[in-house]
Order: sequence, then structure tokens, then C-alpha cells
Amino acid sequence: MPSYVPHKVIFFGEHAVVYGYPSISSTIDIFSKIQIIPNKYNYLQTPFVQEALKHIGQEKSYVKVDSYIPSGSGLGTSSMVIVGVLMHNRDLRGEALAKAAYEIEYTVQGLGSPIDTTTIVAGGFVMTNGNYGIPLWKISKENKTWNFSNLPGKNMEIFIVYVGPKGSTKEQVEKVRKFMERGRFAKEIMENIGMITREGASAIIRNDIVKIGELMNENHKELKIFGLSNPLIEKVIEIGNKFGYGAKLTGAGGGGSLIILPDKKDLLREKLNELNVKLFETRTTSVGSFFKE
Ligand code: PMV
Repeated sequence: MPSYVPHKVIFFGEHAVVYGYPSISSTIDIFSKIQIIPNKYNYLQTPFVQEALKHIGQEKSYVKVDSYIPSGSGLGTSSMVIVGVLMHNRDLRGEALAKAAYEIEYTVQGLGSPIDTTTIVAGGFVMTNGNYGIPLWKISKENKTWNFSNLPGKNMEIFIVYVGPKGSTKEQVEKVRKFMERGRFAKEIMENIGMITREGASAIIRNDIVKIGELMNENHKELKIFGLSNPLIEKVIEIGNKFGYGAKLTGAGGGGSLIILPDKKDLLREKLNELNVKLFETRTTSVGSFFKE
């Protein structure tokens, strides 16, 4: 029986969330189908997959992923595969599933926050470290704790633009960590991102698309200071600002994907298609991961 797991985007607060600041992420209406089948030809699988299979006692199996989103896109592919595999153990659902999935991600990657795994399990707009919405659960690691809640927001259309492989999340997180070690300036950027994210939560609850777009632009500018953008990303941002309500990179950055809140959709599509990028027109969804016959 397959599991179906959604991809996710981060609206606000990536990177800052690693240091305990708030973030807002959401599942999108693009699901991948994950099946566990016999590994007839002993194919080697990624460390994430191997760990997840080990966790459910199926290390000799093979994981088949049907997805049209490229991996390394910054849309949560590795977390999605981990969650999809673990769901084959029916005792793992909700909080227990999110915690087990994060443990695996942490074991393999050694850093990062549990926002991807929790968002993919819970579905909908997920706020991390904010006093908004309906409480979900909290996850702690070493001396950090992340508190999750579901924001009551109306689903919205988004354009996702994939600009090419992002390199590892780990590399980008390390890059930001070096800034943080150098002093106050990076901390101020994080504080700003925190404020933007909190304002973003009220804008999502009010369904104020114009404000959400403005805040996305502001958040992107802060991420750019950390060196997470590149010329192609900036070109997409420019188009996104012209024909949409706002645009920003989503996820680790350095490549990967951007999100745009579309306004003049035809022009936006036309201009983006002139660039060497992949466009996914989708919506946020309140659905999380599920199992189906
Ligand atoms: O791995 P991605 O691209 O989905 O983004 C991860 C988000 C970060 O905040 C950069 C890292 C993290 O683990 O929270």
C-alpha cells in the first residue's frame, strides 16, 4: 500500500528557525507516492532512505518514489521520503511520526530544524515558535525546542520556480552559521526575519495577500544578505515583483526554488518561461501525509 506525502514550501523564517526564531511553512498540492517493494537488484539507496527502512525493520526493501519534483529543489524531498517510508508502520502517525522522521533527518544530516518533517506530517500552514493558531506538538534537540501550531489560513495560489540544484542544505546552513559566529550583524538580520514572520502570521490569518507579498519581499532581502541568492534567483525575483504580489527564495537557498504570489498570471508565466527554470503552478493545501489502498 502506498503513502502519499506532500511537498512543502517555507513562506517565512527559513534559516532563522534553526536558531529558535519563528517560521511559517505550508504543504502544497503536489504529492509524491511512496511504495516499499522488494529490492530485487540490491540497489543502493540514500542514507535517509536506508535509515528510514531500518527504523521500520525493512532494511532489505527498496523505496519507489513517484514524484515530478526534482530532488534538491528545496521543497522538502528528503523529509517527504522519510515520512512516506515511516508511515508504512501504522503505529507511527502525528506527533510520533514527526519526531521519528526528524530523528532520522538529524542522524543523517547532523543539523537543521524539524520544520520540514512536521509540516509534511501535519499539513496546512505550520507556524514554528509563534503563539498563533492551534497547538500541534513540540520537538527538542540538544538545547533547542521548536513549538509547532497550525495557522488558520485560507489556501492560496502560488507559483513555484525551480532554478536548479541548490547544493546541500547543510552547506547553506553552515554558511549562515559562520555569519552568526562573526557577531551582532547576523543576529540583527535574524531579529528582522523574526518580526517579518510574526507579521506574516497575522497576514495569513487575515488572508491579506498584498501584505503577505510585501513581507515575502522583505524576507528575501534579508536572506540575500547571507549570500543565499544568485543572479538567476534575482532575475526571478524581479519578474515575481513585477507580475506578482511578492517573491522570495524558499528553503535553504543557493539555488533550489522560489515562491511567487501570482497576480498577472499570464504575464508571469510568459516571462518565467523565457528563463531556464521550471515552473509549478500550485496551491497551498491543508492536507498532510496519508495512506491509501
Ligand atoms: O532543506 P530545505 O531547502 O527544505 O530548507 C531547510 C530550511 C532551513 O531553515 C534552511 C534549514 C532547517 O532545517 O530548518
